[in-house]
Amino acid sequence: MSRERFAGLTHKGHVAFVTGAGSGIGRETALTLADLGADVAVLDWTPGAANDTATEIEHMGRRALAFTGDTGDERTIVDAFARTRETLGEVDVAVACAGVLGQGGPVFETSVADFEQVMGVNVRGSFLVTREAAKGMRKQKSGAIVLLSSLDGLQAEHGMFSYCTSKGALLNLARAAALDLARDNVRVNCVCPSVTYTPLLTGRLATIPNGDAVLASYAERHPLGRVLTVGDIASAIAFVTSSIATGITGAAIPVDAGIGATWDNYRDPPWVHRG
Ligand SMILES: NC(=O)c1ccc[n+]([C@@H]2O[C@H](COP(=O)([O-])OP(=O)(O)OC[C@H]3O[C@@H](n4cnc5c(N)ncnc54)[C@H](O)[C@@H]3O)[C@@H](O)[C@H]2O)c1
Repeated sequence: MSRERFAGLTHKGHVAFVTGAGSGIGRETALTLADLGADVAVLDWTPGAANDTATEIEHMGRRALAFTGDTGDERTIVDAFARTRETLGEVDVAVACAGVLGQGGPVFETSVADFEQVMGVNVRGSFLVTREAAKGMRKQKSGAIVLLSSLDGLQAEHGMFSYCTSKGALLNLARAAALDLARDNVRVNCVCPSVTYTPLLTGRLATIPNGDAVLASYAERHPLGRVLTVGDIASAIAFVTSSIATGITGAAIPVDAGIGATWDNYRDPPWVHRG
């Protein structure tokens, strides 16, 4: 059997579409895909953010396209995919990274407005990206879509009701879409990060008085002894959307520094002595 197709991780010749690409995981994913050879369309609703990422991609010698808009808005996503096809070509890789935490809070304090905003961005936005990407991918009989779920999708976090609900929904969104698209050779997966050092995290930590201590305790509780970096997540996304990962679809892939492997807060038990 030839092993030529395992020659290395590349996105040479691919066109990628990444939402939330103005910051954090989405930005790093867009830059990583460009670094691996892709031309990349980026979308973000923060003014100037998509443009900044697109400029950086062009400096890397790739073609880029920037859109400023809301991923939860149907017209925005339909138009952005149409322009990407016209300008860069058919989309091979789509990554729905745009996401919001919402107000945070337990179910008994969650407003309908907060719930709808979080579901609107995290779930409707991911649905729209999946649907629009799938249309062209079906025609070319290939493509890979990744949705950003979370460890909060695989399990739940106390006091983050809207967010956990939205991230859990994405797991079955990916499975259902993966089944609908499997015979067209279009793969759909979720990547599920644990705590990742991004502006989303630092923004949340800034709202509490002991943010630094909370960050240190997050790091301590992960078996690898640290929180995740944007590079940890972007490299997993680059792998699962590449033509190396031909057999992975409908999966929820944790990138969690080992925390999902333990039910206990990770620490050495009394009978383990490090040499
Ligand atoms: N940081 C973490 O610890 C962590 C952990 C698990 C999952 N995630 C998920 O990863 C994804 C990226 O998170 P991040 O930490 O990089 O966040 P971030 O805040 O650094 O970046 C998110 C980007 O998405 C954009 N965005 C938000 N809502 C949008 C909308 N409606 N339309 C267009 N753009 C929008 C923001 O402007 C921002 O640039 C999110 O879906 C998040 O839920 C993050």
